[in-house]
This record gives sequence, structure tokens and C-alpha cells, in this order.
Amino acid sequence: MFEMALLELKDLRVALEDGTEIVKGVDLRVGSNEVHAIMGPNGSGKSTLAYAIAGHPAYEITGGQILLDGEDITEAAADERAQAGLFLAFQYPHAIPGVTVTNFLRTAINAVRKARNGGVDDPIPVKEFRTDLFAEMDRLRVSRELASRYLNDGFSGGEKKRVEILQMAMLRPRIAVLDETDSGLDIDALKVVAGGVKELVGPEMGALVVTHYQRILDYIEPGFVHVFVDGRIVEEGGPELAHELEKSGYAKWEKERVEA
Ligand SMILES: Nc1ncnc2c1ncn2[C@@H]1O[C@H](COP(=O)(O)OP(=O)(O)OP(=O)(O)O)[C@@H](O)[C@H]1O
Ligand SMILES: [Mg+2]
Repeated sequence: MFEMALLELKDLRVALEDGTEIVKGVDLRVGSNEVHAIMGPNGSGKSTLAYAIAGHPAYEITGGQILLDGEDITEAAADERAQAGLFLAFQYPHAIPGVTVTNFLRTAINAVRKARNGGVDDPIPVKEFRTDLFAEMDRLRVSRELASRYLNDGFSGGEKKRVEILQMAMLRPRIAVLDETDSGLDIDALKVVAGGVKELVGPEMGALVVTHYQRILDYIEPGFVHVFVDGRIVEEGGPELAHELEKSGYAKWEKERVEA
């Protein structure tokens, strides 16, 4: 049977504001219950791809389509994508002074609830929110003290990651796209990210993990690996491909690229 993908990219092309094409035609399908990894060398365009999926205004989609649950979101604004069930782990990487983690999460949840309720306000009851929040915080081992602090203000790299995964757990998206640079993350924080992805991916959710770093994949264990070089997917396979890359790197494809 043909199952509709949660996230589908069709010949997606993305350019920078100056017109330079970075993503040069990507086809990809991520289904529910699936974890996909995109791996590739520095500067190959992985983050550009992730930003384009997120609807970042600095990245122009010059060709192709992005479908979410079969619906074309290629032209949708970033907040519309979020309301449609797309979660981007780097969506709010900056500190937001004056906005506590609690308020931020409640606002984000209520925006999604409103969209799912046909545009009519449907705020989560305060008691339900608090119960949910503390249960998820305990589960993800996020210190309760962080809840009342301003979002990302003075947070360590690990604390930012934890709050990001907490946000994902609270929003229950259809598809999560995580751009993991892994830089500066200790094993403990990596495990939080990986554990969060593993726990949340299921019949209702799929994930796309973008990384050039093998280590996180030891914990996440993607079912599908896509090798991304110079704006294109050059090879696809199962988890064994990630291990192969760990040994041999990307030289094979980069060499082909130079020769071509
Ligand atoms: N906003 C931008 N302005 C100018 N150049 C950009 C911008 N965004 C991306 N680029 C360029 O596009 C290319 C691809 O960058 P991108 O960040 O997508 O690579 P990446 O695969 O994520 O690399 P890394 O593994 O280092 O994270 C790089 O040459 C980068 O300098
Ligand atoms: Mg990147």
C-alpha cells in the first residue's frame, strides 16, 4: 500500500539571497515512526536545507516542493508550518529576555492548539499545562529551576538542548527536524537529544536529524541514512551506512565531485 509521507521533499532547490544555489534538487520522504539522518561534510548545505524546510526567510526556495502530510507548504510562513505540525529544533536559538521558559512553552502550545481548533482560541488549562510540563521536565531530566528563567538567557549548551527537547515533547509535532552540530555537547546532552527523539518518534511522529557528526547517531540509531554532498543526496542506506561513514568519511563522493 502507498502510504503518505509525513514530510516529502520533491526536487527541492534552495538559494541564498545573492542567488547562489546551495541545495540542488533533493528528493526525500520521511514517514511516521521513522528516523532519518542526513549526513555530510561541512558546508555541503545541510543547515540550508533544514532552514528552507523551516521557512527561514533568508533561504529562497527556487524549485521543487515541500509537502507536510500531503499538503504543500512550500510557500507557507514559518509559523504556519509550525502550526501544521513541523518542529524545528533551532527555531528559537537566541535568548528572549523577559520571556520565561514556561511562558514561551505555553504560548507555543496555545498557538498550535488555536490553529488545530480552526483559528479559535483554545488555551490549555493552567493545571493541565503545569502537570504536563513538570512530568516532561522530570522525564527529560530538565531542572525545574529552568522553567522560571528567561528563555536561553545564560543557558549552557546542554541546558539549551534540554529545553529544546522539552519544547518538542510539549508540542507533540508531526515531524521534527533537528540540526545537530553536536559542537560543545557533552555525552549527557547528546543522550538527552537522542532519548527525546527515540521516545517521541512513533505512529504519530517522524524525525529528520541533520548532522555531520557520527557520534549522535550512536544514540539515535536512524533507520535511514542519506549522504549529502554539495547540495545533493549522493547515497542512501540503512544504519550501516552511518558506520561506514565513520570509517571512510566523505572522501569518496567529494573526489567524484572534483573529478566531475
Ligand atoms: N545566510 C548565509 N549567507 C551566506 N552564505 C551562507 C548562508 N547560509 C549558508 N551559506 C553558505 O552556504 C554553504 C552551505 O552552508 P550550510 O550551513 O548549509 O552547510 P552545512 O552542511 O550545514 O555545514 P556544517 O556541517 O558546517 O554545519 C556554505 O558555503 C555557507 O557559507
Ligand atoms: Mg550546518
